[in-house]
Amino acid sequence: ERSPGAAPERLPFSRLSQEDLAFFRETLPGGAITDPDLLEAHNVDWLKSVRGHGELLLRPQTTAQVSEILRYCNDRNLAVNPQGGNTGLVGGSVPVYDEIILSTALLNNILTFDPVSGILTCQAGCVLEGLSGYLEEQDFIMPLDLGAKGSCHIGGNVATNAGGLRLLRYGSLRGTVLGLEVVLADGRVLDCLSTLRKDNTGYDLKQLFIGSEGTLGVITAVSVLCPRKPSAVHVAFLGCQTFEQLLGTFKLCKGMLGEILSAFEFLDAACMGLLNTHLKLPNPITDCPFYIVIETSGSNSAHDEEKLHNFLEEAMTSSLVTDGTVASDDTKVKALWSMRERVTEALTHDGYTYKYDVSLPVEGLYQLVTATRDHLGSRAKNVVGYGHVGDGNLHLNITSPGPDPSLQGAIEPFVYGWTAGVRGSVSAEHGLGLKKRNYIYYSKPRPARTSCELYLEAVGVNVG
Ligand code: FAD
Ligand code: MLT
Ligand code: ZN
Repeated sequence: ERSPGAAPERLPFSRLSQEDLAFFRETLPGGAITDPDLLEAHNVDWLKSVRGHGELLLRPQTTAQVSEILRYCNDRNLAVNPQGGNTGLVGGSVPVYDEIILSTALLNNILTFDPVSGILTCQAGCVLEGLSGYLEEQDFIMPLDLGAKGSCHIGGNVATNAGGLRLLRYGSLRGTVLGLEVVLADGRVLDCLSTLRKDNTGYDLKQLFIGSEGTLGVITAVSVLCPRKPSAVHVAFLGCQTFEQLLGTFKLCKGMLGEILSAFEFLDAACMGLLNTHLKLPNPITDCPFYIVIETSGSNSAHDEEKLHNFLEEAMTSSLVTDGTVASDDTKVKALWSMRERVTEALTHDGYTYKYDVSLPVEGLYQLVTATRDHLGSRAKNVVGYGHVGDGNLHLNITSPGPDPSLQGAIEPFVYGWTAGVRGSVSAEHGLGLKKRNYIYYSKPRPARTSCELYLEAVGVNVG
């Protein structure tokens, strides 16, 4: 029997032929790429932990072209791997074998924006940061923000149901995505690109594709509800002695900052060590075991400042917080945010990273980090914890000098078993991809089969 972490077998898909290449070259003039140098970056994931051997990269510009490609691949039984910005962290964005890579990079047009409703429609390959820049000029923002914003595509965000740094305030994409256009595996175009706030006419089909990670079809266009750009943004970077104090600060902050609270993130001292060592980012406050990034977003700076000031005074006098610094100018706000956003990058300099992205009851969020440290002892180089406290989402990361199967064997299924024991989820926001696909049952009952398994069963392949 294959081990749970092992790659799946190559299924009996067809191999690419000269006739296939001729078809794609004719369908996508200039958009069917076979140059191995150009393919290299598309065959390796962001973490450089999964490498495929796709021999063809397709870069369609229209939904009709995506439809033609998928219809042809379906008829010819050719495997396809949809790819957005290739920033996914679970190995789902790159081929494992010789799948055709279908990139959304040239599906990158903004279609419409209505400044009254704040509803944006765009093609799936628009880069998140580009959309944010476009909206900011019109005094709006995207409802999601993540460290990968410079590369990730909105289609990839929807396909993974990405959470990120603003979820606490604006909710998940399941609420802010109003419509999707999707091309199904057989080439049929499903037009659910609604721009309506309310739509109870029948089933909400688009929900099936949010978080489906490319298993049910290729998302080609998205409509999304965008909030107004807040005119006042403040960020506080605080230090706590214990995780209990951090939770106490969260409770206090929800009460005292209320509607202006837009993020509550944390990192531990081990993360701070990596930021100092690998990225030369100095700690803006005194050393503490835990750090918090709090952001407020509102429409009246004086009002928000007063609230923040009262909150900080209370947090300090009640000894929840040991030290802190506050920013409201753009440069310092960005600098404080980078202490949280760049942990992922700092980890890549520390060695091979085993990444876990779990949802847990917030009271026990950090216990898993401590338990993993105790469990692994000196086998791990570093065991660090950071994440989205406001969403109950812990990022537990373990580094080692290089890939280490025996270390991985000690971590998995320990982390998943621990998570299941508190009724958590083994994938909070990154998805299952290749790396977590075999662990779904730690968080979902057996009948909740992955769509991939259902498909395989339907075509007669025994998935066990
Ligand atoms: P890809 O990586 O290209 O693809 C991801 C998956 O979606 C793959 O399975 C792919 O097949 C599928 N897919 C892509 N596009 C489509 C499409 N158009 N139709 C159908 N399927 C498609 N994630 C979070 O949730 N929160 C974070 O805070 C966060 N921060 C990150 C920070 C960094 C530095 C990095 C590197 C990653 C981070 N991520 C985060 C993970 C990642 O950025 C997100 O999952 C992102 O949404 C992926 O978008 P992408 O365009 O890069 O998709
Ligand atoms: C984050 O919150 O920083 C992202 O999800 C990326 C990561 O987990 O490293
Ligand atoms: Zn995250």
